[in-house]
Amino acid sequence: MIRIIKTEDYNEMSRKAANIIAAQVISKPNCVLGLATGSTPIGTYKRLVEMYEAGDLDFSGVKTANLDEYKGLTRDNDQSYYFFMHDNLFNHVNIDPENTNIPDGTKEDAEKECAAYEELIKELGGVDLQLLGLGHNGHIGFNEPADDFPVATHCVDLQESTIEANKRFFASIDDVPRKAYTMGIGTIMNADKILILVSGEDKADIVAKAFFGPVTPQVPASVLQLHKNVTLIADAAALSKVNK
Ligand code: GLP
Repeated sequence: MIRIIKTEDYNEMSRKAANIIAAQVISKPNCVLGLATGSTPIGTYKRLVEMYEAGDLDFSGVKTANLDEYKGLTRDNDQSYYFFMHDNLFNHVNIDPENTNIPDGTKEDAEKECAAYEELIKELGGVDLQLLGLGHNGHIGFNEPADDFPVATHCVDLQESTIEANKRFFASIDDVPRKAYTMGIGTIMNADKILILVSGEDKADIVAKAFFGPVTPQVPASVLQLHKNVTLIADAAALSKVNK
């Protein structure tokens, strides 16, 4: 069952998402947060930083595991997810850098890096709250539409539509990495609670398919319908194609 919170706009979505994450951190100060990148969660991270600055949130015991990372980008590349997380959250709160985890895109041996990342999540004791965005093709993390649901952290070939969607962040389309390391659908589904954020009219079609259509690996996010504790926070524009 998916609990849906409809908001007026992106800002309200971001505030409500930050409240849920804050509640998690306050109720379990040593929790494991699964974190996401993309433009959608930026407002949520901003709000979390404000809460920290106001003295209302303490990240000193929090551990994090990010969903994914481009293969081949160095950590100082401003398009790496490592850079993104530090720029948008980690550098602005009192989280211990030792407690933050992101797949290492510079590791050439994909199998080894992905297996090590999967193991690390197990060692952390699993993810308490996983934050997700939604790709236009229904991807979560970088799990692209496929014939089956990938179980564990793995290396993916990004689809043309994803490369196209992400090229806005790079100097040219040739600079967009073709591969990424991502938690699998199984890894994501193992999280205790899931919080997925969607904003904007351009996501309205995929919201209808993913949360109100059949569960299929062709729409990876549709698998969330089978999770026991999912909250979708979406603005009115993203929910405009469904009767919610
Ligand atoms: C990216 C990321 C996803 C993200 C999605 C949507 O490629 N790998 O984790 O949720 O695409 O991005 P945005 O929020 O910018 O629409």
